[in-house]
Amino acid sequence: MSNEEYYETLDPEDWDEMRGLAHQMVDDAVEYLKTVGDRPVWQAVPEAVKETFKSGLPEQPGDATAVYEEFLTNIFPYPLGNIHPRFWAWYMGNGTIMGALAEFMAATMNPNIGGGNHVAGLVEAQVLNWMKEVVGLPTDASGLLVSGGSMANLVGLTIARNTLAGGDLRKNGVQSLDRKLTVYASTEVHSCNQKAVELLGLGSDSLRKIEINDDYTINLQKLESKIVEDIQSGYQPICIIATPGTVNTGAIDDLNAIADLCLKFNTWFHVDGAIGAIAMLSDTVRPLLTGIERADSIALDLHKWMHVPFEAGCVLVRDEKAHRDSFSLTPEYLEKTEGGLASGPVWFSEYGVQLSRSFRALKIWMMMKEHGSKKLGRMISRNVDQAQYLGRLIEKSAHLELIAPIGLDIVCYRYNPGETDLPTLNHLNRSILIELQEQGIAAPSYTTLNDRYCIRVAIANHRSRYEDFDLLIEQTIRIGQSISA
Ligand SMILES: Cc1ncc(COP(=O)(O)O)c(C=O)c1O
Repeated sequence: MSNEEYYETLDPEDWDEMRGLAHQMVDDAVEYLKTVGDRPVWQAVPEAVKETFKSGLPEQPGDATAVYEEFLTNIFPYPLGNIHPRFWAWYMGNGTIMGALAEFMAATMNPNIGGGNHVAGLVEAQVLNWMKEVVGLPTDASGLLVSGGSMANLVGLTIARNTLAGGDLRKNGVQSLDRKLTVYASTEVHSCNQKAVELLGLGSDSLRKIEINDDYTINLQKLESKIVEDIQSGYQPICIIATPGTVNTGAIDDLNAIADLCLKFNTWFHVDGAIGAIAMLSDTVRPLLTGIERADSIALDLHKWMHVPFEAGCVLVRDEKAHRDSFSLTPEYLEKTEGGLASGPVWFSEYGVQLSRSFRALKIWMMMKEHGSKKLGRMISRNVDQAQYLGRLIEKSAHLELIAPIGLDIVCYRYNPGETDLPTLNHLNRSILIELQEQGIAAPSYTTLNDRYCIRVAIANHRSRYEDFDLLIEQTIRIGQSISA
């Protein structure tokens, strides 16, 4: 081993040079976000650039500036687009520059919030307390920051299963049960809940998908009859999942009515609030969410409508003991000591699947302090108003039609030139959507409702202006006419 090798680390050889590069990166990041609206919302990665990702394992050290330049050329120009003011696809937030900088600072400190007595745990605990305050859960509820809504739902449903199945499910497993457990949600429930039910060993058939009303909310009569029918057939209902803000249309299930049914049938009340729960920050949406405070567990997604950079999800659980009982496992190497690094009241690894966990709490904490709950709530209220504005533009246009009631911030519409049959109309709208995206104009996504393919605009975007929706309508009609011609 040479003398250099004996002392080598992964730190830069020249810290000042790295400082200069870091300053450049910050300048580039600020400029990138400041001017994001001037660029196309999306562009495909060119073939030549794709080729560069086929090179093999880099064996020898590269120059940091050259690495960064490669990033600037081959990566930075081709984002997904969700940072753009006219990105309304799937359901995503924009992020913020403070969120991005907080990620950098979190990675600089690089703690692991699985456990240990250090400040990051206090930050996460405070963020969780804020979230309890937002949704109205008691202060002694527990919670965990997770990667996103999917993981938050998995955690909530695991606790539901373990708490209500009876017996020691962690020890004996679902094979030990003499009755089949069932979970209820509407046909609009997000697919991640089905994955969770599958992972929990219950099988996807045990997720009873209940019919919806015309406004895409769960039909409560059908829900109750299915529960009664299942009980009579020997099943054991353990949980009802309510969705305030469904992924297709933003419909809000009746939370109080579902909470009542959960009481009546002694089932767990889980709220998949990946879209809607954080809308408790909005003065206009909050009244639509009454009943959320009665939930046994709530999944929130802060990388959606709160715009924290990915990933940032959160699960809150009313019964801290039930939460810990589902996940705590402490071999000697994870036991706490009465003092020192391994002390501290809460180890978050006892509340979820992961042991090693990133300091995602910091970006949430910094963004909350920077903007405050009122302003974050105003961003949500404005998106809801923009959805109504877009709806009015569609209704005013002879070429367009709304395909579903506008729930929260999601608008589903299609171009309809008149006499065209359904398969042709569906194909036409599919082509319009692709053109909108490929021309870099706007990025809605799609869904199919009652066999009708529609352009779906999910407005969780703090950068969207009302004029962006004027442009969307103008361009939908222009493209529709040019394809039809
Ligand atoms: C209602 C709902 N639940 C859960 C999820 C999954 O959340 P994530 O993508 O953060 O895992 C989504 C994603 O859009 C959603 O809309």
